[in-house]
This record gives sequence, C-alpha cells and structure tokens, in this order.
Amino acid sequence: MKKYIIANWKSNKTPTEATAWLEEVMEKLPKDVTNFFEIIICPPIVDVPSLYGKMTGNTTLKLGVQDISLFPEGPYTGEVAIRLVSSLISYTLLGHSERRRHLCETDEIVAKKTLLAIHHGLTPIICISDEREIINWENFIRGKIEEEKRKTIIFSYEPLSAISTGSIGRPEEPLQADNFINKIKLEHNITTCIYGGSVDKKNIDLFIKQSHIDGVLAGAASLKPENFLEVVKNALPR
Ligand code: PGA
Repeated sequence: MKKYIIANWKSNKTPTEATAWLEEVMEKLPKDVTNFFEIIICPPIVDVPSLYGKMTGNTTLKLGVQDISLFPEGPYTGEVAIRLVSSLISYTLLGHSERRRHLCETDEIVAKKTLLAIHHGLTPIICISDEREIINWENFIRGKIEEEKRKTIIFSYEPLSAISTGSIGRPEEPLQADNFINKIKLEHNITTCIYGGSVDKKNIDLFIKQSHIDGVLAGAASLKPENFLEVVKNALPR
C-alpha cells in the first residue's frame, strides 16, 4: 500500500504563493515518488480553486482542505459549506488540535463533520492527539458509518508535545509512535493511521520506515517548496 505524505499549510500562502509552490514542486518532484506515496496538499480554502486548476491530470498530488463547515449550505455567514468545495477536493482534515484548542472543536463536532464528509464523498483525515479522543469520537459515530466507509478513514496521530516544536524530542519517539499506532489500530478498528508533529527532512525517514505508520503530516516543513521536496526525497526507500 502507498503511504501518505500530507502537507498542511495552515493559515499560510496567498493564491499566487500557492501556485508558485505547486509549479516548483510539480517540476522537481522525483518521478518514482508516485510508486510509493500519495501526496495530499491541504491549503487554505482560498487557494483551492487555483491549485485545482493546475493539478488536473496529476496522479501523485491530491487536494484536501483543513476543515469543513459543520453546517450544510444555507444561512451560515462566514462558513464554507462542503457542497461548495467537494467537487474540487478529495480529502479533509478534521479535528486538528489547533482547531480543538483555539476554536472549541469537540469530539462531537469532529464526529458530525466526519459523517458530513463521508456523505459528500470525501475522505476524512481525523487528527487525534490521544486515545481518549478516538473513544469519544467512536461513541458519537457508532452505528452511523458502514464498515466499508469506515475503513477508508485516515487517522493522524499527532501528540501535542510534538506539534510545531521543530524537532522530535527523544530518539525513541518514532518507535513509540509506531507502537501507539499499532495499539489503536488493533483496539479501535482503524485501518490507516499516519503520524504528525514536527516531521521534517531530517527525521522523516525515521517515521516513514515504521511498519504501522502509514505516512506523515508535515506542517512547517511543507511551506517552502525546497524543504518539502527534501521531505519527499528523504522519505523514498534507499
Ligand atoms: P508541524 O505541524 O509539522 O509544524 O509540527 C504538524 C501538524 O499540523 O499537525
């Protein structure tokens, strides 16, 4: 199975900056990447239309958003309803810890957005920082997702201590992440789980080679095209 490399740009990049990034990455991406990885770019919503236009026909790069509105289309001022973007994207991040912390996003909201995303044909990438968040999420979605659909959900384990800190703390962390991911896969019927938190060009090989880690999510290291290209190159098997 191909592993995932997800670029989460957070609140960065104008449409002009986004298309410049994409042009450079598409030009310099090693050709064999497509044999090993699916690369998902999650830009701010304002960049989605221009990136979509340039990515048509590219089989390695996919587009996602960083969140979807909890509400269907209608009178919800300031919200971008899923129906307005779902034809341009394939994935959506949900429940990133920054949204949980700064925007009061709860496990119940993440569960409702999961159902909405699946209903509109998107693959949810559910960010969790501990097992309690999975247990709560499961309590809210129990019986509401068919088994086949549930298998397509991607989870992203992102320990709070690792996000935006700029380095992995201790050398044993990739192995600990692998053990934790193996445990939650077995105990919570999870098919795919990636890892996120300060993944960069220096440490990606330590995470990507672990057998239970199905890919990585990179925030800061995905912003400059040259850094992101190094992340991808260093993920390739040697
Ligand atoms: P970071 O972000 O790579 O900048 O730590 C990770 C994330 O968005 O989860």
